[in-house]
Amino acid sequence: MNAPFVPYQPDRKPIQETLAILQVDLKTAQARRTVRVFSTDEVPREAIEDALRIAGTAPSGAHRQPWYFVAISNPEFKKRLRAAAEIEEKEFYDHKAPQDWLDALRPLGTDFVKLHLTDAPWVIVVFRRDHEIGPDGEKLKNYYMTESVGIAVGFLIQALHRAGLATLTHTPSPMTFLRELCGRPMNEKPFVVIPVGYPAEGCEVPDLERKQLDEISEFISSSTHLPTC
Ligand SMILES: Cc1cc2nc3c(=O)[nH]c(=O)nc-3n(C[C@H](O)[C@H](O)[C@H](O)COP(=O)(O)O)c2cc1C
Repeated sequence: MNAPFVPYQPDRKPIQETLAILQVDLKTAQARRTVRVFSTDEVPREAIEDALRIAGTAPSGAHRQPWYFVAISNPEFKKRLRAAAEIEEKEFYDHKAPQDWLDALRPLGTDFVKLHLTDAPWVIVVFRRDHEIGPDGEKLKNYYMTESVGIAVGFLIQALHRAGLATLTHTPSPMTFLRELCGRPMNEKPFVVIPVGYPAEGCEVPDLERKQLDEISEFISSSTHLPTC
């Protein structure tokens, strides 16, 4: 069945305004850092709800919206989550992680202790829905699930940052334990864990450099000389 079409004519901004908005957004985006030490200060549920609504506006393959978010503020649940995560993480750091991975992580100062899972006022566990279940229990395919959920998580992180909240993108390895812990069905795969809150007093982050525009992009414009084909 075709979806009916509706008119879409958002207000067109003068280009100077567009450029000015992007300049401001760039500064805001440049100021975002992954935080690993959180204050226990509370964040109201409405803030998380709106950030999740924003995440839910992300584009998705065939509009399947293959994401599900479990937002946790319950202290006892966070304790269980942290205990389960630290078992996996200890195994990862002590035995499973190849040396090159450990070398790459060393400058970030991470280890198996995941204090942020109990300190941050909210922990959002993001799931990727690999297929939907139809009305008769049949499997309905989803498309580009990883890409879609990745974009939704990008929207989420950026929305929280713009609102003055800090996040950590945490990927316990492996993270299958999260499905059972959160009581999610078999068609969902844990994707990422995102603690949300404020940086703890005295919080520090690694002094990282970001790649410059010319290292991450090139432009093929009307003045570019094209080779003859
Ligand atoms: C897919 C992905 C997985 C990540 N996993 C972890 C993680 O498990 N633990 C952690 O401390 N940081 C994790 N990070 C955060 C990165 O280390 C961080 O984004 C990177 O060092 C750049 O720092 P910045 O976010 O402050 O710019 C992850 C980031 C991404 C995008």
